[in-house]
Amino acid sequence: MKQEIRKAEHEALEALNGASDPTGVRALKARYVGRKGAVTKLLRKLSSLPAEERPETGRLLNEVKKRLEEVFEKALQAFEADHEETLADALDVTLPGRPVARGRIHPITQITRAICEIFQGLGFEIVEGPDVEFDYYNFEALNIPQYHPARDMHDTFYISQKIVLRTHTSPIQVRVMESQPPPVRIIAPGKAYRVDYDVSHTPMFYQVEGLMVQENVSFGDLKGILTTFARQIFDEETSLRFRPSFFPFTEPSAEVDIRCVICRGKGCRVCSHTGWLEVLGAGMVHPAVFEMVGYDTDHCTGFAFGMGVERIAMLKYGIDDIRKFYENDLRFLEQF
Ligand code: DAH
Repeated sequence: MKQEIRKAEHEALEALNGASDPTGVRALKARYVGRKGAVTKLLRKLSSLPAEERPETGRLLNEVKKRLEEVFEKALQAFEADHEETLADALDVTLPGRPVARGRIHPITQITRAICEIFQGLGFEIVEGPDVEFDYYNFEALNIPQYHPARDMHDTFYISQKIVLRTHTSPIQVRVMESQPPPVRIIAPGKAYRVDYDVSHTPMFYQVEGLMVQENVSFGDLKGILTTFARQIFDEETSLRFRPSFFPFTEPSAEVDIRCVICRGKGCRVCSHTGWLEVLGAGMVHPAVFEMVGYDTDHCTGFAFGMGVERIAMLKYGIDDIRKFYENDLRFLEQF
């Protein structure tokens, strides 16, 4: 019996030497140490041995079985490692690379940057303010008291009774003036929020606010700055029209139109055949606002303006629905 065991072991090892793939090894493993394998069969035959031979033979058999199992397992692992190496070798570095999708800067961000750059060139400094704003800065300090009918102009998102999502970027004017004495020459880009949704309104939109305060600033300066701006963002032919209007925080106030950039003033669908398009609100800072921030109205005057960034972008790119900017349709966004 012992001889048979040694022979089986020898044969198994010999056969393993000749195995050239994992399938071969698995077959050998089954043939020798599997449930119907040669070594296993010998184990079953133990009971027919004389009682005194059994313990020693049994020990030998178990040893051989264990050893063989280990050797087969190692061989299988070696094949696996080899296989991985072969895969690595098979990497074809001459294949063309996978295309990497490139992101773009959102058109609204592009226009905001262009607007800021033009005003920076005119000596304006860029400042920012919080999107979540106190009622005080958004309304109160801008001469829009609690029950003023002008509050109807804004359908406001209220966070609480005293806190709102700012309905315009004008509160930044107040924050800046509170924090520094004149002269002031700032522009403030940022988001504004109103409860509104149609072809020309989204609940979140961008504005750029402007403010210039020092001695002897006049409405003429406002016209000059805005005209210069319009000619830079559109083109040299652009002209502006100032219409009297009302804002609680400016006096006098104006709505500013540009000659329609599509039809050049002849009248078309985009400008409702008027030849003009409204692009911003502006005016001379109201004395009540100066009083709120403690500026001396004897020694300074100022102008302010606020423009809708999407409006400018729509005109510049000829887009007829503001919502397209925020639908995240790559076919649209990739054009810019
Ligand atoms: N805040 C106004 C709005 O959102 C726009 C505006 C009008 C801003 C006149 C100004 C201004 O600074 O002077 O409708």
